[in-house]
Amino acid sequence: MATSEAILQVLSGSLLPGLHHSDKSTNNFNSVHAIKANVNNTREKFPVSMRVLKSCRRVYALQCRGGVFRGKTDVSRVESIGCKCQQAESVSGVTAEDHNETWVMGREESIPSVPVNGTSSELSTEEFGIGEQLKHEKGGLTTNGKSAAAGTIKDTMLAGRVNLIEDEAWNLLRDSIVYYCNNPIGTIAANDPSSSSILNYDQVFIRDFIPSGIAFLLKGEYDIVRNFILYTLQLQSWEKTMDCHSPGQGLMPASFKVRTVPLDGDDSATEDVLDPDFGEAAIGRVAPVDSGLWWIILLRAYGKCSGDLSVQERVDVQTGIKMILKLCLADGFDMFPTLLVTDGSCMIDRRMGIHGHPLEIQALFYSALLCAREMLAPEDASADLIRALNNRLVALSFHIREYYWIDMRKLNEIYRYQTEEYSFDAVNKFNIYPDQIPSWLVEFMPSKGGYLIGNLQPAHMDFRMFSLGNLWSIVSSLATPDQSHAILDLIETKWAQLVADMPLKICYPALEGQEWRLITGSDPKNTPWSYHNGGSWPTLLWQLTVACIKMDRPEIALKAVEIAERHISGDKWPEYYDTKRGRFIGKQARLYQTWSIAGYLVAKLLLANPSAANILINEEDSELANAFSSMISGNPRRKRGQKRRSFII
Ligand code: GLC
Repeated sequence: MATSEAILQVLSGSLLPGLHHSDKSTNNFNSVHAIKANVNNTREKFPVSMRVLKSCRRVYALQCRGGVFRGKTDVSRVESIGCKCQQAESVSGVTAEDHNETWVMGREESIPSVPVNGTSSELSTEEFGIGEQLKHEKGGLTTNGKSAAAGTIKDTMLAGRVNLIEDEAWNLLRDSIVYYCNNPIGTIAANDPSSSSILNYDQVFIRDFIPSGIAFLLKGEYDIVRNFILYTLQLQSWEKTMDCHSPGQGLMPASFKVRTVPLDGDDSATEDVLDPDFGEAAIGRVAPVDSGLWWIILLRAYGKCSGDLSVQERVDVQTGIKMILKLCLADGFDMFPTLLVTDGSCMIDRRMGIHGHPLEIQALFYSALLCAREMLAPEDASADLIRALNNRLVALSFHIREYYWIDMRKLNEIYRYQTEEYSFDAVNKFNIYPDQIPSWLVEFMPSKGGYLIGNLQPAHMDFRMFSLGNLWSIVSSLATPDQSHAILDLIETKWAQLVADMPLKICYPALEGQEWRLITGSDPKNTPWSYHNGGSWPTLLWQLTVACIKMDRPEIALKAVEIAERHISGDKWPEYYDTKRGRFIGKQARLYQTWSIAGYLVAKLLLANPSAANILINEEDSELANAFSSMISGNPRRKRGQKRRSFII
């Protein structure tokens, strides 16, 4: 591992010839030389399109002093991360191929069999006229009005239609790419020309970029993902404040925007500026807890897919991982190993009653811990961190598997719970009153199948079924293999409720009436069966596909993809669908929502090449499994009266 002196491995002058510091800098800002003095120059740093950057002058907005993770890190925002570029003409001629030649590594060797389904056709959507064509085909007619009676003709037509949808999706995904200093660094959240209120949908959201990034990785286009990882890493250390309060240092932004502004005093030049949002501007001022977790998951996927491990080995990247872990593993008042967060800290980013210990965050947390453990360089300085990480993994998996799991058997057990038990051996540890069991659940729970509940607090179980948390618990092996199969069984059995006309319900069921008023604060965007409140989100197709592939049940995902294909292109790739069966395009849904497009593409690519899903999957760790079973056998719920065991790794 490289020197522990560097807390940020910033772009060095040797790689960025035009490097200089900003005139706008505050007195906190160190010179380039000072930065270089603290970094390790032996490692490959950002060889990203250096040919492009020759015409760019980078503005440093980051100052770094001090040591690594355990030392004091002092990184301050000055004005912005900016890149002063010459006008577009001066960098023209730099093509995508140029980028690839420069720094795509080991592509052939690493993913030889990744399909190239979407091999780019340069035709636009209008030229294809897909929407119209599909409308005709949906009615069982071909575009020229004749009935496609023969199976083979029908099959050929279907295959052709699917190819058209994929081509359209690839074109739209490429259209959504955002450039920073002429380098692709992300994808815009939505590219809806019909929408009058853009809000922040013109930004690159960290969580929204994950399926885009995976799609590019599976296609062998690594540069955009690498850039995304490295630039967002720089944003991590931004000084972030809201009303004089600063959150922990490892926080990753929810989103960022690239602004191209005229360069002061120079009419012929522009400057690209990266503006992150850590929740200070977000609706409801929500902290994006999931961003850093997704960042770690994507980083591992990048390394596994491209074979380029140099990114995860960089000092600044290692430091970034540790900063995220440090923030998540920090001691607090909690008695539970689950992460305690406020409402709206993940995909559901507004008030939906998920504050506390929501499953989605726990599943991402568990996955990120496992991914980080794989990537962290073994060094003395990290020993404590790795120990804390291992302890947390065991405690977290035990807690979720034991207390979040619900099926017919467990439901019956809760139904007969004793309450007010004061003892170490209490069966009803969280003092759940059986009357809490909602009537819908009695109908909903199949005899075969089960799921992880949405949240657990003292005297409160949130029985709603949240799809992303359940799917990612399968992907990350947070759920046991039996539980994972049972979750998929439930999705199959409850297809009409969870998939219906558009996969997949974000949660089931919706909050209605007084519950909706109290829990959402009468949120008009989250009315029953809309948006986060029981709406159907096509982007979830990709997580469903990874989970199904992991459990060797890809046919479930295939069926869901086929359902999506019936409408999604004709409906212009909406962000979400409304109503119990997901029949209507969401009332306030953006069209051409990038993660709907990318989610579909990832599902298609993975179904065509299931082994590629390994870049996202965490297989059950045998040590963890052993630790889990020894905790299970010591669990008083199973063996009442047995002595409590402590577990130390
Ligand atoms: C909405 C979603 C959020 C997503 C953002 C951008 O706010 O709730 O999950 O990241 O839109 O698409």
